[in-house]
Amino acid sequence: MTDQELYRHAKTVIPGGTGLLSKRPEMFAPEFFPTYFKSASGCRITDIDGREFIDFSICGIGANLLGFNNKAVSRAVINTVNAGSFSTLNPPEEVELADRLCAIHPWASWARFARSGGEIGAVAIRIARACTGKSKVVIIGYHGWHDWYLAANLNNADALGGMWLKGLSPHGVPEELNGTAFACIHGDTEALNTIFKEYGNELAAVIMEPCRHEPPQAEFLAAVRTGCDHYGALLICDEITAGWRCCFGGAHLKYGLEPDLAIFSKALGNGHPIAAVIGKKQFFDGASKAFLSSTYWTERIGPAAALATIGEMEKSNVSGYVNDYGDRVMAMWLKCAGKAGLPVKLTSSFGCLANFAFLTPLPNAVRTLFTRKMLDHGFLAAMAFYPTLAHGEKEFSLYAQAVEAVFTDLAETVAGGETAIRKALAGFPEAHTTFARLVK
Ligand SMILES: Cc1ncc(COP(=O)(O)O)c(C=O)c1O
Repeated sequence: MTDQELYRHAKTVIPGGTGLLSKRPEMFAPEFFPTYFKSASGCRITDIDGREFIDFSICGIGANLLGFNNKAVSRAVINTVNAGSFSTLNPPEEVELADRLCAIHPWASWARFARSGGEIGAVAIRIARACTGKSKVVIIGYHGWHDWYLAANLNNADALGGMWLKGLSPHGVPEELNGTAFACIHGDTEALNTIFKEYGNELAAVIMEPCRHEPPQAEFLAAVRTGCDHYGALLICDEITAGWRCCFGGAHLKYGLEPDLAIFSKALGNGHPIAAVIGKKQFFDGASKAFLSSTYWTERIGPAAALATIGEMEKSNVSGYVNDYGDRVMAMWLKCAGKAGLPVKLTSSFGCLANFAFLTPLPNAVRTLFTRKMLDHGFLAAMAFYPTLAHGEKEFSLYAQAVEAVFTDLAETVAGGETAIRKALAGFPEAHTTFARLVK
């Protein structure tokens, strides 16, 4: 079966097609973007049809900060598999990982582990509820698929729409959770204070991504911290995307914000399943009271991979590297767009989470065409680019040449207006912009 055939079959045997919305090819270029990989190394991916692509898209959805199949991390994992990765006893690496994370974040004195981002968010919320005896939560960011989070959409179908992913369906979330979670846009101090005033005494936690594409406003961070202190709610920093790439450790370190708990996953394992919550000493007892227990939370690959990944991230100053690299890519996008006469704007201030948007008519159709045309040049490419340590000069110049050619081509199409843009799609669908139920 070809890649496209396998995915068509997958949609009949796996509801949703894949386990991660952002790995659906419909999110990039339906019927063109590859779905399955045979192998991946550095910043290159070979799909199951044997085509090799250089990845200038979201590079393992942000998990592969060191690149795919990083040698040092893979070696640690292989050694772990060879020694036995699971048994009746626990992996000692998890104790070393707890110490390491606390040393990097001196405000923290303990850690618990899980294996995925959404899962560790649920663990942190459970701990906050156990520590405070309260249940309501303020949400400032994207935090995954669990009930506690999607509950915010029960009252207002798209309350979470401002948190990067629109249209998240609360189907299957108990209606009884309505009124337990409140979304607040990052930087909206007034909305935050209104929630504090109304529900402060019932709040267990404020969970917040410290930043995404823009630096946070100091005044907003101060309002979050002050409100949490005043009402006795725990401040949880979600570092699952920002952590390690904005700076070494959690991005909160860079902005002088001291949370009560912080959660990590993605880059922490460089593609191997691991997630951590770290916390202040005074919440150790609350965390001990909560029933948190799962068989595979005690496997050994995750913590072994995380220790190797942290070592490599520190040694290479990966955050400095990816921020510089992404800044250069963003400057290149502007330069090529200017030369081609194609209107684009940057939508991120951080090179490590580089992003742009088309300011053309039918911008979503144009972005679909961009991705399709970049595939012809051998690139996985989208509006977002998460650089890795494996992206080098050679890849930069090959990518810049392809972007220049594709932007020039697109500018010609765009000059023909909406009719020409629609015609260029040649009857194939545009990329999805939100969560949507898939048609088989
Ligand atoms: C900030 C943040 N929190 C939580 C999650 C959920 O992590 P996972 O997809 O591993 O469940 C994500 C995933 O994109 C994220 O970006």
